[in-house]
Amino acid sequence: MAADNIESTLRETRVFGPPEAFQRAAHVQSMDDYRALYDRSIKDPEGFWGEQAQTLRWSRQWDRVLEWKPPFAKWFVGGQLNVSENCLDRHVTTWRKNKAAIIWEGEPGETRTLTYQELLREVCRFANVLRGLGVGKGDRVGIYLPMIPEAAITMLACARIGATHSVVFGGFSSEALRDRMNDAEARIIVTADGAYRRATIVHLKANVDGALKDGGCKSVENVVVVRRTGEQVPMQAGRDHYWHERVEAASDLCPAEPLDSEHPLFILYTSGTTGKPKGVVHTTGGYLLQTALTTKYVFDIKDEDTYWCTADIGWVTGHSYVVYGPLANGATVLMYEGAPNTPEPDRFWRMIARHRVTVFYTAPTAIRAFVRAGEQWPLKHDLTSLRLLGTVGEPINPEAWMWYRTVIGGSRCPIVDTWWQTETGAIMISPLPGVTPTKPGSGTLPFFGVEPEVVDKDGVAVPAGAGGYLVIKKPWPAMLRTVYKDPDRYVETYWKKFPGIYFTGDGARRDSDGYFWIMGRVDDVINVAGHRLGTMEVESALVSHPRVAEAAVVGRPDDLKGSALVAFVTVQQGGGTPDEKLRAELKEHVVREIGAIARPEEIRFTEGLPKTRSGKIMRRLLRDIAAGKETLGDTTTLEDYSVLSKLREEEE
Ligand code: WT7
Repeated sequence: MAADNIESTLRETRVFGPPEAFQRAAHVQSMDDYRALYDRSIKDPEGFWGEQAQTLRWSRQWDRVLEWKPPFAKWFVGGQLNVSENCLDRHVTTWRKNKAAIIWEGEPGETRTLTYQELLREVCRFANVLRGLGVGKGDRVGIYLPMIPEAAITMLACARIGATHSVVFGGFSSEALRDRMNDAEARIIVTADGAYRRATIVHLKANVDGALKDGGCKSVENVVVVRRTGEQVPMQAGRDHYWHERVEAASDLCPAEPLDSEHPLFILYTSGTTGKPKGVVHTTGGYLLQTALTTKYVFDIKDEDTYWCTADIGWVTGHSYVVYGPLANGATVLMYEGAPNTPEPDRFWRMIARHRVTVFYTAPTAIRAFVRAGEQWPLKHDLTSLRLLGTVGEPINPEAWMWYRTVIGGSRCPIVDTWWQTETGAIMISPLPGVTPTKPGSGTLPFFGVEPEVVDKDGVAVPAGAGGYLVIKKPWPAMLRTVYKDPDRYVETYWKKFPGIYFTGDGARRDSDGYFWIMGRVDDVINVAGHRLGTMEVESALVSHPRVAEAAVVGRPDDLKGSALVAFVTVQQGGGTPDEKLRAELKEHVVREIGAIARPEEIRFTEGLPKTRSGKIMRRLLRDIAAGKETLGDTTTLEDYSVLSKLREEEE
């Protein structure tokens, strides 16, 4: 869909100037201001970032802004700071002490508000709990929590003592959790008894028990359990501890530990082109600087804002734009536990009205689902508090963009379509609201200090309008530093295709105004509903089933989710003919191995997979078949034509 979408978008020449009534808080007021500051940031990146870094609180000034030994970067070398101090302590000595930091709403509808002062107290107490359980600087802490305040508290408590957190999305299975915790060698996991999601309970503690059973995770010594649903969960003496019992006994004094700017703040696992997810490593100073600065400029944060980013902390968006970026800016953050359509398709609109949300940031798949549900749902609610809208995670089609603008934004709110990745840590391409004229479907222009380019396979910039690979030419502060315990994979994945230049894995075009249009992944990563899945990951899940001999997974355009997973499966000889039952079983098997987000939309049984002479699966061909395309392109390299015709027969 992505490529076709872009075609239609490019034909659409609509440009939306900034809505007149929009009042900006940040200092860039016009395109001239933007260009002047952007040019400066590119000509003198160290000067620019060094100046911006003065807005953070440092315990020790850096000696050098950037040390770049391609492809390894160090930012603010010699500087020391603490992320939790910047997000909390800095505000509690001002009037913001009693300002709401987090307003939380549970799926059942209850709310809880934590002021900056209260959040700091909870963070200090839990930091002491972690220390009491033997967690210290440099140790890894696994976080497997729902969207409840304790998730942010745990992240900030880790940051306070210099422990490195690794959040695993609560929708991942125990197997997926176990693999990640083993790779990170986590000493402790913080979880909850359960979580409310779609009016049912997700049994998180049971999943943790599943991951740890039979010595599945040898590094994990302790488990802290937040009581959320109150359900009975088995507690293993000496290993499992209730959050509330530990916190009650903990001191609320815990000075923030000054940490090197390059101290690892977190590891976040994300899907790549092999079966094994990558542990993307982010560090302290540069990450905080760019998340804070992009929050200030892209979301235009003002003190009176109620800011809501709907992402789960299991994804990087939740790290950068639910927790670190907004709290560094002293913002009031709305946090929501549950699903967008529970109990009804107007839950988000109801919440925007209830909390008088001003800045709203969500994913295109969610918007398309709302378009489908119908505009009667938003029309039931007063959405006039909104002043700014954002999207992230996947390309947005112009129709959804227009609906968002008119039905949700009342044509009064600028839309920021923000392009970035787990690896980039922070927003890289985005309009500045009220400044950059927008075009539906385009992320528009680069953020300060970011130098993206669209290149051909030789790394040469392509002319305006031509498609190519999206790359970033210079290091940026929030960039990933490495793949955890695997620097070779870091070099191989991101820096080898174009030496010295970062390869994003995305295809893109730049139009004659210099605007970027992201077409989607060009590697073996599939973006399903804004979530990233590796084809190989799903394939290894499938072949771990005893009846599967071979599997190939591709993406198929999907009107709602952007892409849907289609799996081509060959079964073991002599195992009988595959049927509906096996189909259902295989889908459930993938859910057990990875999680519900990886459930294939469709499974096609085939007697063989089309391969090149060298034995590579011909994914392009499979993609065409999955999409039901008529022409199958050049198939002369096909090893076995009969496989192709069998696949096509099934198609007809
Ligand atoms: C991939 C990164 C960044 C937070 C969520 C996803 C796609 C992201 C956009 C956008 C078009 C986008 C890209 C990118 N993507 N934002 N505004 N327009 N595509 O993080 O899981 O690391 O995925 O999401 O394909 O490479 P992620």
